[in-house]
Amino acid sequence: MINALKGMKDVEGKYAFYYTKIIKICEEVAKNYGFSFINTPHLELSKLFKRSVGESSDIVGKEMYEFIDKGGNKVCLRPEGTAGVVRSYIEHKMDKAQSVKRWFYHGSMFRYERPQKGRLREFHQFGVESFGTASVYEDASLILMLVEIFTRLNIKFSLIINSLGCPQCLPSYKKALMEFLDKQEGLCEDCLRRKDLNVIRILDCKNEHCQNLLQNAPLLSQKLCPSCQKDFTLLQTCLKENGVEFKLDDKLVRGLDYYSKTAFEFISDEIGAKAAIAGGGRYDRLIEYLGGKSGYGVGFALGIERLIAILEQKEEECEREGIYLCAMDENYVPKLLQIATNLRKNKKVFLSYEAKKLAKHLANADSANAEIFLCMGANEAQNQSLFYKNLKTKEEKQILISNLESGL
Ligand code: HAM
Repeated sequence: MINALKGMKDVEGKYAFYYTKIIKICEEVAKNYGFSFINTPHLELSKLFKRSVGESSDIVGKEMYEFIDKGGNKVCLRPEGTAGVVRSYIEHKMDKAQSVKRWFYHGSMFRYERPQKGRLREFHQFGVESFGTASVYEDASLILMLVEIFTRLNIKFSLIINSLGCPQCLPSYKKALMEFLDKQEGLCEDCLRRKDLNVIRILDCKNEHCQNLLQNAPLLSQKLCPSCQKDFTLLQTCLKENGVEFKLDDKLVRGLDYYSKTAFEFISDEIGAKAAIAGGGRYDRLIEYLGGKSGYGVGFALGIERLIAILEQKEEECEREGIYLCAMDENYVPKLLQIATNLRKNKKVFLSYEAKKLAKHLANADSANAEIFLCMGANEAQNQSLFYKNLKTKEEKQILISNLESGL
């Protein structure tokens, strides 16, 4: 037996049903917000992520699927989607013109994490990236887009937001935090590493001792420059005016190094300990870090597996769809093929090629999740009709083949 690797899963069956449902809703909402589709490669040069996601992140520090390809390039399976999309924006010279671009994407991301419910090594994200807009209304719109997606999926969430400052105010905050930490003892190994690489990442350390040490640490919210403060206040006003509840969290720094100003996370209690179902923020400096002309960027990604885990828990009934067409005698199959070809012009049809007893066909229609069951037995063949059963409402009747279009 050759099995899938640990932390990697086939998207099939019920899982595939939820997967396509989530993507369909995300795409509809993203298009309504003016976003269009982009797809970037799964494999990129490792340095793309080292420079963007950052050396202080767990992703770059511990979780990348990295190897040397046959051409001697150090490459990596993408651990997230933003860096590739920013690379594409720069590679196609859109940064030079400061083009306004709004893209959405979905697909596999790879992180070598310890697998558990809602945490995989190959997982799927739906994400959006918006370039060329400095306005904080864009940040608010992205949050409202996520609210719309979760509302359509009937998923409850809590929202936390923070401002991570900008090159005007962040350096002096980092200095104050550093001075504070220099007086503390017993930071965990990860935090000692983060202290040198990106000190604010220490704020969201999960280690209890580190959190105790941080209790009296200086707060970035008290050190924001007037421009960051103005934007952050406006963001909160927009959310309130649109009826979105949120909490401020000074310790929300996100696990990736590229953020500035707005940072946000959507949390769900429905899959065990508070799990992030989506996260994002503004990354105005990233385009420049990756060699482009300085510009504006903001985006988010949501974790599809985490949403599936919530929907599965709710035991949401898979919606029935399509027609199951079958016969009790193999000689009727050529006629059924003609009927199916006609119906398939605008309907989904599962056609069974084998003769079976009615009960067996009904069981197969049920497991195919069909909505309508049509079967030809001896009587039906004689009358040029079909036995009809609606598997949702349980209604049964005979339908003449000549009336099929209108009778379904
Ligand atoms: P992230 O917070 O690393 O952000 O990931 C976004 C979401 O992906 C998380 O909230 C979570 O739902 C899901 N996720 C992360 N790791 C796993 C995993 N191992 N298994 C299952 N789901 C997971 C980013 O990736 C940024 N690129 C988001 C962004 C876009 N920021 C700006 N633009």
